[in-house]
Amino acid sequence: MADIAKIKPANKTQAETSPAATATGRAHGQYPRTRMRRNRRDDWNRRLVSENALSVNDLIWPLFVHDRDEEVAIPSMPDVFRLSVKGIVDAAKQAADLGIPVVAVFPAVEPDLKNAEGDEATNPNNIVCQAVSAIAKAVPDIGIMCDVALDPFTSHGHDGLIRDDYVVNDETVDVLCHMALNQAQAGCHIISPSDMMDGRVGAIRDHLDANGYDDVRIMAYAAKYASAFYGPFRDAVGSGTYLGKADKKTYQMDPGNSDEALREVALDLAEGADMVMVKPGMPYLDIVRRVKDEFAVPTFAYQVSGEYSMLVGAADRGWMDGERVMMESLLAFKRAGADGILTYFAPKVAALLRG
Ligand code: PBG
Repeated sequence: MADIAKIKPANKTQAETSPAATATGRAHGQYPRTRMRRNRRDDWNRRLVSENALSVNDLIWPLFVHDRDEEVAIPSMPDVFRLSVKGIVDAAKQAADLGIPVVAVFPAVEPDLKNAEGDEATNPNNIVCQAVSAIAKAVPDIGIMCDVALDPFTSHGHDGLIRDDYVVNDETVDVLCHMALNQAQAGCHIISPSDMMDGRVGAIRDHLDANGYDDVRIMAYAAKYASAFYGPFRDAVGSGTYLGKADKKTYQMDPGNSDEALREVALDLAEGADMVMVKPGMPYLDIVRRVKDEFAVPTFAYQVSGEYSMLVGAADRGWMDGERVMMESLLAFKRAGADGILTYFAPKVAALLRG
C-alpha cells in the first residue's frame, strides 16, 4: 500500500486526507499517486511541459488587392481591406518587419475585366502580377504566394471553364498552367493551385520547369472542401455575386470525406507538390492530423475567411475574448500537426508574439 503521507503536497486540504478521498482514490487506479494537476500548478511548469507553440515563422498572411487607389473595407471581414498596389506593398513591408515569412496575394478583379473564360488571369499586366512585381521589388526578402484558380477572373465565379454546364477539367488545367507561369514571371515564389482540377499540380510543375522556373515552389490546396466557410472571401474577391446560388461540389471535396483527402494529397505529392494544404482549417483539423501522420511532409492549413469572421464577429459583440480565441485557434492548428497556417490574423499574431 502506498504511503500517502510521503507524497502529500504541503498545502493539502482536509478533504484530500479524509478517508473518503482515499477510498475514492483507490477506486480510481493511480490517484492520488498520479496527479495530472502538479505539472499545471505553476506557470514555469506549464511552460516546461508545453508540447506545441506558435511562432511567427508559421504564418502566411493573405492580402487582397484591387486596381484602385483607395482601400475598401470588406464588410463581412472586419479589419480586412481590398488594398491598392501601393497599399499591398506597405502591408508586405509590415509583414517583413514583423518577421512573417510569406504573403499571399488575392485579386478583386474589376467586373468589366471578368469573362466566361477568365482571360484576365493570363494577362501579364493583371492586378496580381502588378502587385507581385511591386512587392518583389520593394520587399525582396519576403516570400510571395499566389492562388491559381480562375474564380476571381470569371464572370460565373467558377474556378474553371464551363462547357455544357460543367466545369471541365483538362481544358481548365491548360489555362491554369499559363496562369501559373504568368505569376512566376511576375516574381511569385510559391504557386498555390486552389482549383481542385485533377492533374493540375503535375501539369503546372512541367510547365514551370519547361520555362525555366524550376525554383518556383508549389503549395497545393490538396484537400480543399466545398465549404460554406469561404463566404466572406467570395465577398472580398467579388466572386460571390457571380457564383450566386451555384456551388463547387463537382470539384471541391465533400465535407463528410476523410480517406479521400489522403488520396488527394498522395496524388499532389506524386505530381510534385512541395507543400500541401488542408482547407478550411478549424473544422478540418482531423484531416490535418491524418495528412501529417501519413505523409510527414510540409503541411499547411488555411484558417479561412468564415473562421476569421466568426471569431472576430463574436469578439466584436463581446461574446468571447478575441485575442485569446485567436491565439487558441492557431495553436490548435499546430497541435493538429500543421507546419504553418494561412490566417488573416497574421500581423496581429506576429505583433502579439513579439510582445
Ligand atoms: C479560390 C479560393 C477560395 C479561397 C481561397 N482560394 C474560394 C473558393 O474556393 O471558393 C477561400 C479562402 C477563404 O475563405 O479565406 N479558389
